[in-house]
Parts: sequence; C-alpha cells; structure tokens
Amino acid sequence: VIWRQIAQEAAGWLADEEGEALRRHALSAPDGPLAEIGGYAGKSACWIGSAAQERGTIMFSIDWHRGSPEMAPGEDCHQPEMVGPDGFDTLPHFRRNIHNAGLEGVVIPVVGSSHVVGRHWHTPLAFLFIDGAHDDQGVLTDYELWAPLVLPGGILAFHDATIPGIASTVDRAAHDNFEHIEQAGCLQILRRVR
Ligand SMILES: C[S@@+](CC[C@H](N)C(=O)[O-])C[C@H]1O[C@@H](n2cnc3c(N)ncnc32)[C@H](O)[C@@H]1O
Repeated sequence: VIWRQIAQEAAGWLADEEGEALRRHALSAPDGPLAEIGGYAGKSACWIGSAAQERGTIMFSIDWHRGSPEMAPGEDCHQPEMVGPDGFDTLPHFRRNIHNAGLEGVVIPVVGSSHVVGRHWHTPLAFLFIDGAHDDQGVLTDYELWAPLVLPGGILAFHDATIPGIASTVDRAAHDNFEHIEQAGCLQILRRVR
C-alpha cells in the first residue's frame, strides 16, 4: 500500500516497528477522532492516519512546523532539507507526504503551538500520540493539557520515553488515570482506565 511506503521513506525518527505499534493501537482504540502532537514531515501521521482512514474517522496533527531547539542548525536533529525560503518549515514536507499517501481529508494539520491550541481544545480523543516538545516542562504541559481529553479506554502514547524528562511524565500518567499496556522501541503505550 502506498501510505506504508511513504511512512517508511518520510524524514523522521520513528522506527517501522514503532509505527506498526501506533497503527495497531489506533485501530483498536474506542470510537472517536485520533490525534498526535508533533507531526514533523508526516511519518507518524501516515501510520496513525492509515488507521483513521480504515476506521472511517479522522486524525488531527498538531505542530507549529518550526521545529524544536534540537533541530536548529548544528544541533543533533538538524535536517537541512527542512530549511525553505521562509526558514525552517516542515509543513510543505508534511503536506506532500500526506497527499502522496492518499490521506488528505483524513489527516488534518493544526498549525500552531500545542500549548496554545491545547488551552482551547475540547474535542474528546480516542487516541493521542505525544511527540512534540522534548524538554521536561514542554512534555509535561502537553500531558496536562491534552491527556484529560483522552476518552475512557482511549490510548495515550509517548515517543522517546527513554529520555528522563519524558519517562517522568509517563510515570505520572501511570499514577493518574492510565495503565501501561505496551512498550515498542522508544514508545510507551498506555490506556485510560478511569
Ligand atoms: C520529533 S518531531 C515529531 C516527529 C513525528 N511524530 C514523526 O514521527 O515523524 C517533533 C515536532 O514537534 C514540533 N513541536 C515541538 N514543540 C512544539 C510545540 N510546543 N507546539 C507545536 N509543535 C511543537 C516540532 O515542530 C517538530 O516537528
């Protein structure tokens, strides 16, 4: 299938095994829209969006598309092809990949700060993947703003959960309303139990 090839070839840091795990949990989540924080070039959006398409639901992808501090020139995660005429901008890459994957209309980009959007977001979510800000406070703020919108029985996944600041937010989730259900690569996957 075309979306799978686009997912595998898109720029990003998500391993295929992690993408497969996201897709599997997105397929078995309760009814309702799916979402991710951190879209970058659309890699995870292809994996999760393919599940949304199969289920007849939609997926929101929240990202300001201006990158993170670790993506600045000279930093570890800098990818020069993401610099365009207006500076660092992953939105054209995201749109091209989602279009080529046949997922336009299913994957809805929401372009803005997840912290600003999150303060105005009220739509419940069946599935949420957090892969935006990677600093301690940024991840915690995403969790505090967005996790309350996850439906009972819904899925909450974190990428790069080996980073201590992210691991501590995963622990916090496991002490709040969520239980661990799977680890895949650097992914931690939890389910809302109450
Ligand atoms: C690691 S990348 C996401 C990778 C993507 N999930 C994938 O699998 O390809 C992190 C993204 O989060 C975005 N980001 C970081 N902090 C953000 C914030 N506070 N609000 C919105 N987007 C943010 C960056 O622009 C970047 O595209």
